[in-house]
Order: sequence, then C-alpha cells, then structure tokens
Amino acid sequence: MSNTVIAHSFGNSAADANAALPAIPTWPDVDNLYRRFDALVRQPMRPIRADAMDQVMRYFNERCRRSKQLADEAKAVIPGGVQHNLAFNHPFPLAIAQAEGAHMTDVDGNRYIDFLQAGGPTLLGSNHPAVRQKVNEVLDTCGPVTGLLHEYEVKLAELVCQSMPGVEMVRLLGSGTEAVMGAVRLARAYTRKKWVVKIGGAYHGWSDQLVFGMRLPGTGRMEAVGIPRGATAHTQECHPNDLDALRRKLQLNRLRGGTAAVLVEPFGPESGTRPVHRDYNRQVRALCDEFGALLIFDEVVTGFRAGMGGAQAYFGVTPDLTVLGKCLTGGYPMAGAIGGRKEVMMLLVGGIGTTSRRAFVGGTLSANPLSCAAGYHALLEAQRVNAAGVAGRAGERLCQGLAEIIERLGLPYVTYNMGSIVHLQTSGVLLLDTSNIVKLIRVKNEARARKTMMEEMGAAYTAHGLITLAGSRIYTSFADTDEVVDDALNRFEDVFRLV
Ligand SMILES: Cc1ncc(COP(=O)(O)O)c(C=O)c1O
Repeated sequence: MSNTVIAHSFGNSAADANAALPAIPTWPDVDNLYRRFDALVRQPMRPIRADAMDQVMRYFNERCRRSKQLADEAKAVIPGGVQHNLAFNHPFPLAIAQAEGAHMTDVDGNRYIDFLQAGGPTLLGSNHPAVRQKVNEVLDTCGPVTGLLHEYEVKLAELVCQSMPGVEMVRLLGSGTEAVMGAVRLARAYTRKKWVVKIGGAYHGWSDQLVFGMRLPGTGRMEAVGIPRGATAHTQECHPNDLDALRRKLQLNRLRGGTAAVLVEPFGPESGTRPVHRDYNRQVRALCDEFGALLIFDEVVTGFRAGMGGAQAYFGVTPDLTVLGKCLTGGYPMAGAIGGRKEVMMLLVGGIGTTSRRAFVGGTLSANPLSCAAGYHALLEAQRVNAAGVAGRAGERLCQGLAEIIERLGLPYVTYNMGSIVHLQTSGVLLLDTSNIVKLIRVKNEARARKTMMEEMGAAYTAHGLITLAGSRIYTSFADTDEVVDDALNRFEDVFRLV
C-alpha cells in the first residue's frame, strides 16, 4: 500500500477532517466561463513554440524507446496501434508497466502523475489494495463468473440503491455504452413513445443511436460512419443550456410519437466541458414532467465521483433513470448499470421463466462476482474515506494553482473544475462555436489546427511527467495529496513556459 493511501485512510484526525469535505466545493460561474471560452477561440492559438516542441519529441525518442517499440509492433495487429479512445497517442501511446495510487510507471521506467485515472473509474487511485484483496478472495473461492446469483451482486445493488436518491432498483450491465442503450430502450418500452433528445456535444457511448451530436453540439450524424440513417432517425440534439430549444422539440415531438426520454450528462456535455447552469437539470426535469418524457441522467462519470449520491444528490434533482459506469466497479470490468424507479425498472425483469412484457437486456458476464466484489468494496471504501471529497479538494487545489499560473504568464487558457473533474482548455478545440450551419462549416477546418495544438500540449505534459485525458481534462483521485498536486503544478508551469 502506498504511503499516500495510508496517510489518507488511517490518520484519525485527517479522516475526521476529510469526512466533511464536499465532493463539489463550488459550481463554476457558467456565464463567465462561456465568455472566456469565446475569448479563447476568438484569439490566435498559443501553442508550444516549435523549438520547444523539438525538445518534447526528443523525450519520446530518447526516453521512451520500449514504448515506441511496442507501439510499432501494435500497429501491425491493432488498428492504429491503440485500442482505447482515451489512450493519448501523440506521438505514440505509452505502454504502462505499473500503476499505483496517484502514479504510473511506463515500460521504460519513467514515472508519471496519473491524471487520467483510466478515464475516471479509479476514484480511490489506481489499483487500490483494499479492493484488490477482496477481488483476489473472490477469485480464490468461485473464480470470476458462475452465471448464477452471488452475494456480492446483491450487496452492490443494495449499496447503490442506498446511495443514489433516484435508484430503487438496479440492473448491472457490461459498460456505460450498454447501460445507455438499455436505458433508452427501457424508456421507450415504459412510455411507449419514440423520440430521444440528447444534449449536443455529450458522449453517451458508441451505440448506433447515440453516435450523434458528439463532441461539438450541432454536429448530428457527422461521426455516424457505418450507422444507417434509420438508427439515428429518432435521436435529436439540443444545444447545452438552451431550454427553449428543448421545449420546442418536446412540443413538436408530442405531435409525432412523443418523447420517450431526455438524456443528459448532468454536469454538461463531455463531463462538463460545456458546463450547464446550476439550475439547468431542475428545469429539464420540469419539462420532462410537463411532456411525459423520462429524464435519464447519464452518471457514468459523475456517479460516485460527485459524491455517493452522484450529480442527482448534488443538484437535488431526481431522474427517472440513472446510467452508471466507471466508478461503479472501481476500475474493474463490467462497469455499467441502469438504475431507477421500481415501476420503470420492473420492465427489465430477467430470468428464463419471464413471460411479462419486458425491454430485453443481458450479458454473459454481466453482474459477475469479480466485478461486483470490486464495485462493492471500491464504493464502500470510497464512502468510508470520503474519496469524492478528498479528490474534490485535490481538484480544487490543482485548478486554483493552474489558474494562478495561467494568469501570471498572461496566457488565454481557461481552467475550471467540478470537484475532481478539472478542465484545462488551451486550444479550445471542443469550444468552437457551432451554433449555426455557417459557423459549423467554418469550424471544421479550424478544429484540425486546434486539435493539433491539443495533441502537442498533451505530449508536452507527458514529457513533463503528467498524464492527462487527451491533453484537456484531468481526473483527480483520493490518492492526490497536496504534495502530488504541488508537484504537478510545477510541472504544468514548466510546460506553459514553453509557449
Ligand atoms: C457520460 C458517459 N456516458 C457513457 C460512456 C460510455 O461508457 P463506456 O466507455 O463504459 O461504454 C462514457 C464513457 O466515457 C461517458 O463518459
């Protein structure tokens, strides 16, 4: 066990102080942020200087030889040499040999501060020993899967139901993508309506019907390669924070089959890359009630990271259905679940003897004992030590430090956080204005240059010992002590001085 974890978990006075920490200490001033986003994308980009970029590339060529060799080998057998969409692959993906707490070490022995945290699930930090030990016990007794009920399945479901205000029952599935698919099907089965409205820019996994309006609002089927038009025929998108547009869609849909569900990432699209106003979810709830649509919160990212009760407890808004993933199994596989009101959830009844009308979902490995044990103990430990609060404090400290450096160096970058989700917008590629068709066309070219800048920033962070999510997002964890955060801030400053 790392010292970091010991310091957080077992120092009694420290644990007492941690217990009171809120997961989301402050909600950003959203109007001010949008003004700053606008300013960021209006002015010329401020990338790393070309000579400094040479230095960054030298790091990869000289210090990451084994990773490079593996990346080259991977290209022969893996499309593009990388399987994970979040694996940062500029100039090539690093191969990781060890991960523990707040740090990762690559196959060449280079150590990094891990602000990717696998894309969010490891709220306790990587490879937490308390969870690993319980998983090993399950493996020793019944192996990873039996196909029958296991006690941990019930324990995990009970813990989720106790924690999340909108969840009375849970059905465990394989991933966030599967759970969103299932939730949409369930909403249609329950309401007997067909339209689904999502918020432009949001990511809800890669199912046929939801590769729609991804990353940038208003982009509709832009990324729907290999997806027939029919699959997205009843998917719609609204711009974030635009409640009038949502109302208009709901009104129109009422005349042609009705809206089954409004699907939101409760912090705003892409984990709050385009943050919503604090009151937004409450108003979406009211619109859903008015038009008889179900409100689905996709809490794949916010579930347990925004506190044990998720974003729904934070905002005090109860969705009809909740989609969970990531933290649900603490970084172990099979991270997906649908939760919700009993009356709706009963349409997901499982088992071979079922004759009732149901929305069919399933999975050979769903709810396997290994993942259920991992999830149960990860969540129990997260609750015991208030991991979301500790990670949130780390996010706050990091964000404030970044803002201070950015201001001192006179850079146009924008940083803000929702607890342990820290956004660091330097290129602004995800913030380009796509609010009408002319702007959308203009954006396509500009996005390319800004994406290159984001990749270069990400590579520079890596070369300075910082692993981020795609160079623009940071997940802090329970393992991020003040020392880790302050070390990271020095490294970020070194990168910003290369601009
Ligand atoms: C909000 C949201 N929903 C759904 C998903 C899809 O989850 P998974 O990658 O487990 O399929 C993600 C993944 O990043 C997500 O961020």
